[in-house]
Amino acid sequence: MQNILHALPYRFGNMAIGMAMLIVFLLSSCKKEDADEQQEYKVFLPANFPAPTYDLSQNPVTKQGFELGRKLFYDPILSRDSSIACADCHISFSAFSHPDHATSHGIEGLFGRRNALPVQNLIWQSSYFWDGGVGQMDFIPLNAITNPVEMDEDPVRVVAKLNRHPQYPGLFKAAFDGQDTVTGPQMLLALSQFMAMLVSADSRYDHYVRNEPGGTLNALEINGLEVFQQKCASCHATDLFTDQRYRNNGILSDFSLDQGRSEVSTLPEDVGKFRVPSLRNVAVTGPYMHNGKFKTLESVLEHYASGVKDSPTLDPLLKQNGQLGVPLTSGEKQALIAFLQTLTDEDFIKDIRFQQ
Ligand code: HEC
Ligand code: HEC
Repeated sequence: MQNILHALPYRFGNMAIGMAMLIVFLLSSCKKEDADEQQEYKVFLPANFPAPTYDLSQNPVTKQGFELGRKLFYDPILSRDSSIACADCHISFSAFSHPDHATSHGIEGLFGRRNALPVQNLIWQSSYFWDGGVGQMDFIPLNAITNPVEMDEDPVRVVAKLNRHPQYPGLFKAAFDGQDTVTGPQMLLALSQFMAMLVSADSRYDHYVRNEPGGTLNALEINGLEVFQQKCASCHATDLFTDQRYRNNGILSDFSLDQGRSEVSTLPEDVGKFRVPSLRNVAVTGPYMHNGKFKTLESVLEHYASGVKDSPTLDPLLKQNGQLGVPLTSGEKQALIAFLQTLTDEDFIKDIRFQQ
């Protein structure tokens, strides 16, 4: 297994490799001798969401596995010099995004190119990262650990550090197969158990669409929802608020710094296309866009109304009848902001189970 972890490329765009790796993972981590001692945790599957893409039956969430995953998420031991934890760039009160950072900085203060995405509702996603460079949730941590400007560490060394640690071997033993050695796949599965529980679907908007108590929207918010459905929902679609596709929304016309999806697909028609992000908790996840270009929701709406830049891959929805952008009156902007604020899920961002 160590050799396989060693050989992993920096990016995992290739689904075939992903699937083969997954099979190896499952074969090496399915023995559950202590299963009866483990307390199973139910992952919240909201009625207004589609079926999850992640197969929870292959990595059932237990109390022990979830708590272990949380400990790892908050532990800088995963980085080369033990200075950076996942949670330094993914902070609970901002839906696990990185507030005030246009692009994240990691080890030794080095800056990356991209804005940290929130960590929420991962089990419904079909791919991860702004360019979809990771196709399977379990592999996400490898990318962060090996990224030279994030944690800059070798996963094999991380596993060795965990094995030398006074607590981790016992915690892994309780969460997984009852054996004395911590393995790489177990580390990834524990982090996945923690991240699988990060479901955000209790905003005021959710209570409204599910007709639950407290689910009222005022006239301005309902007006905003209507504007949203007309002008935004073709891309920010479904109650996940993303169609999970890659599109160019015109924030730039020169993509030489970051080509987006084409860095994974290698197709010229994908230059400048980025994953349509979910807008859940969007009021607390700024700065916005893959490069953190906008600090406020007002400036995002200004962009759609009057800042869209033309380029060969600009989405046709943002260039209708030769007009760039989406026309928005000041009343519509105000209503849209009010609506977007109903997507904040206070229960999620304040949930103490997800904090250190
Ligand atoms: C130095 C800051 C930093 C650290 C440390 C970091 N991340 Fe991230 N994370 C990012 C950035 C930036 C992105 C977006 C990367 C991209 O799109 O290329 C991201 C993306 C993600 C995503 C993708 C979310 C989505 O919707 O696609 C997940 C999940 C995630 N990180 C989890 C983790 C975990 C787990 C760890 C620890 C093992 C970690 N991150 C460590 C900055 C960081
Ligand atoms: C043609 C598809 C499309 C339409 C229409 C569209 N968006 Fe977007 N939106 C995107 C894409 C793609 C991104 C990410 C672009 C990037 O980072 O390069 C994005 C990003 C955003 C972000 C930033 C989210 C974050 O976490 O960084 C917000 C907010 C947003 N859109 C709101 C809206 C609103 C409000 C409307 C309607 C007025 C709208 N969008 C219409 C495709 C679209």
